[in-house]
Amino acid sequence: MSKTRVVIAGYGNVGRGVRQALAKTEDMELVGIVSRTPDRVKKEVGDAIPVLPIADTAAWVAAFRPDVTILCGGSKQDLPQQGPELVQSVCTVDSFDNHSQMPEHFHAMDAAAKASGKVAVIATGWDPGIFSLERTLANAFLGVRAYGFYGMTEKGGLSMGHSDALRTIEGVQDARQYTHAIPEAVEQVRRGENPDFKPGDMHTRECFIVAKPGADLEKIRKTVVEMPGYFAPYKTTIHFVTQEELNSKCAGFPHDGLVIASGTTGEVHHSASVEYHCRWGSNPEATASVLVAHARAAARLFKAGRSGAFTSLDIPPAYLSPLSQEELLAHWM
Ligand SMILES: NC(=O)c1ccc[n+]([C@@H]2O[C@H](COP(=O)([O-])OP(=O)(O)OC[C@H]3O[C@@H](n4cnc5c(N)ncnc54)[C@H](OP(=O)(O)O)[C@@H]3O)[C@@H](O)[C@H]2O)c1
Repeated sequence: MSKTRVVIAGYGNVGRGVRQALAKTEDMELVGIVSRTPDRVKKEVGDAIPVLPIADTAAWVAAFRPDVTILCGGSKQDLPQQGPELVQSVCTVDSFDNHSQMPEHFHAMDAAAKASGKVAVIATGWDPGIFSLERTLANAFLGVRAYGFYGMTEKGGLSMGHSDALRTIEGVQDARQYTHAIPEAVEQVRRGENPDFKPGDMHTRECFIVAKPGADLEKIRKTVVEMPGYFAPYKTTIHFVTQEELNSKCAGFPHDGLVIASGTTGEVHHSASVEYHCRWGSNPEATASVLVAHARAAARLFKAGRSGAFTSLDIPPAYLSPLSQEELLAHWM
């Protein structure tokens, strides 16, 4: 059986995770990496994997002949621009995670993919992605809203978006932000109260900040706690630390999350609840593993003559699995 040929487009934390996840598969192979900064990537990966500039699409598509290209650029600027362009030439999988822009991204990718006859799997990873699926299933089974909590462990979950936001503040040299779920809010949902939470009712935020020499700490603190959307609605704790303390305390990208739905069934209202908990030692590596399974599905959808955009909600789970239908029937049902 020939292996599914995969290209990584964009090489950062998630791109690195995709390379490692592909190496664990038997049915897929990494045939090349494309990047806006190929010299940087070559330095990191050496000669083992060919690296080409992303800009000359025709050249790398001819050289690598990918079945699927996994787009590992950022959601804010890279994916909305690269996605519709690249899907004109290759089948794509992306981890677009701007929840408020989902319809726009879906329609842009769907139109471009239908025009080229390619498949675009969009917005996959753990959230959006497998958590979207769990929310949808819980709602379909129980008819209630499903809630998402993040950072259930003592350390909390590292939010890369909020850490980036802290680093944009004048006087901040480096920073990390950990999200903590509020235990009482989790219990309210478990009790089936279906509360109408505001953002600050479910999570608190903890910031570790390295200030530049001579920076005004009080000004930084005020800018953080008043930042609209990111911190203003939340109870936020700030620790000013040295770069060494940050490096040792805040290494890696741990994260976790819990989808919960609580409702009732039947005329006597028996309690019924669903929980789905993911704990990741490395958020980008976990995201990458989900992306790789969806690349397998994208290749299968394309082979089945499908085109257009698909989300995690549109893909049969068997398409994600390396196992045959006979194996799934015998061991996983
Ligand atoms: N759905 C989910 O559950 C989920 C979870 C986590 C993350 N995500 C998404 O994944 C996206 C990518 O995350 P990430 O952590 O991989 O972002 P990242 O490390 O910042 O990488 C994003 C892009 O920046 C460029 N880059 C990375 N390091 C660089 C460097 N040292 N110098 C110059 N350019 C560099 C790379 O593009 P070039 O190689 O082209 O330069 C890379 O593709 C996020 O924006 C987020 O939307 C989704």
